[in-house]
Amino acid sequence: MSISCGVAILAAGEGSRLKLSVAKALAPILGKALIDFPIAAAEEFAINVGVDYSIGVVTGFLRADVESYLNTNASKRKAPIAFAFQERQLGTADAVKAYFRDVDGADKQDYTLIMCADTPLLEASDLEKVFNILKNDSTIDAVAATFRAENPYGYGRIVKSKQGFHIVEEKDANDEIKKINEVNSGMYIFKTDFILKHIHSIASNNKSAEFYLTDLFQNDRNVRSCLFENPEAFLGINTLEQLENAGKILRDRKISLLRNSGVRFIDSTNVYIDWDVQIGSGSLIHPNIYIYCNTILGSKVTVEPGTVIKSSNIEDNVCIYANSYVEGAVVGTGVKVGPFARLRPGADIGPNCKIGNFVEIKKAKLEHDVKVSHLSYIGDASIGEETNVGCGFITCNYDGVRKHITTIGKRVFVGSDCQIVAPVTIGDDSLIAAGTTVTFNVEAGDLAIARKRQENKPGLAKKLRG
Ligand code: UD1
Ligand code: MG
Repeated sequence: MSISCGVAILAAGEGSRLKLSVAKALAPILGKALIDFPIAAAEEFAINVGVDYSIGVVTGFLRADVESYLNTNASKRKAPIAFAFQERQLGTADAVKAYFRDVDGADKQDYTLIMCADTPLLEASDLEKVFNILKNDSTIDAVAATFRAENPYGYGRIVKSKQGFHIVEEKDANDEIKKINEVNSGMYIFKTDFILKHIHSIASNNKSAEFYLTDLFQNDRNVRSCLFENPEAFLGINTLEQLENAGKILRDRKISLLRNSGVRFIDSTNVYIDWDVQIGSGSLIHPNIYIYCNTILGSKVTVEPGTVIKSSNIEDNVCIYANSYVEGAVVGTGVKVGPFARLRPGADIGPNCKIGNFVEIKKAKLEHDVKVSHLSYIGDASIGEETNVGCGFITCNYDGVRKHITTIGKRVFVGSDCQIVAPVTIGDDSLIAAGTTVTFNVEAGDLAIARKRQENKPGLAKKLRG
């Protein structure tokens, strides 16, 4: 029979020290929210050790925001999330009571893993280490993850006795206890029966008048601490500085993962890649690059310095040259973009196109092998295969009130310095002469020319210039 583990994630806290206008659990980090990380670690842990699991999140402050965020992103997770509501923050034991009260089946799980929403650096392997202590010795009822803090201020201290230990919170500690530097991390795994047996007898007769979950640990109980040598995993996020530091560590982890899968960095010191970004092997990432949200880069993609890519899908063998800004775009295989190009949302660039310097493209579909090599704006348009757009081309898509569509066929040659006052359709194989302002449709195979014929006045320049 398989073992089961309920996961309780405590996220009722306000996080006022973060000074953000969102619930602490939703503080932004690498394109995700803080709470996504403990949830992902718990899922990975449960899958790795092969236990059946369910997840319950205890919400309180800005509850609706936390629940709606987690519900919206539910499809990315393997198991659904249940919610428990802690109306008033009466302490961590009270939060766990809310979990057992509101999450169906929580009391039936063999084990209960308790984590805080604000420790994003914990990894599945850390949880596994704690779990194995319980699993390998059936006499143990609870294990608390602990670490040695250089400055233990603010943490619960681990006060050892002959058999077990108990935990004394900062406010309740005497000077002797305050010197103890082995501290409680706030992550625990319990036998569920053990919690249910003792949680209701926890009192709030302490300096904070809170119900402390840590009171489950008593000297005469079968409890263990699991000391972690590296405290990094337990970095809790209470301030913007801690949020930034955790972000740096997660970013380094992300870059290592990518490097190990064959992505080459010239110097990753100033490369910023969000957690959900995917990059194929053989890709080359130069310094000073920002790749955000759920962007996907295929294999053998090159990204040159100063480039920002957000929420885009970049296929194999694409080169994005220096100082380009790509957002909400699809870029087909073999495309060259930039330097200094801007692809805005809805830019859909077909295979082997060339988008050159100072070209801006918005909401436009370009079929394969289209070239827009220099200084152009293309918006609300479609362009057929193998069309060449000369330098200085503009789709005049906006009349001040509405946007209009430009449709350009296949193998069209658009000369330099042309404008199209949309709505206009240009037929296949047509030619637009340089300097033309197109105001009505051009049939397939036609030449459109709209410019005053040149006149030369013999000797007039010399005369005028004296
Ligand atoms: C807690 C531990 C302390 C440990 C520290 C590690 C207790 C009593 N103390 O202290 O031993 O060293 O974490 O960081 O547990 N929460 C709720 N409802 C509440 C209170 C808290 O959901 O009523 C949530 C918070 O949102 C947070 C977590 O529980 O995610 C921990 O609460 P926090 O107030 O940060 O506890 P600490 O005082 O840091
Ligand atoms: Mg805390």
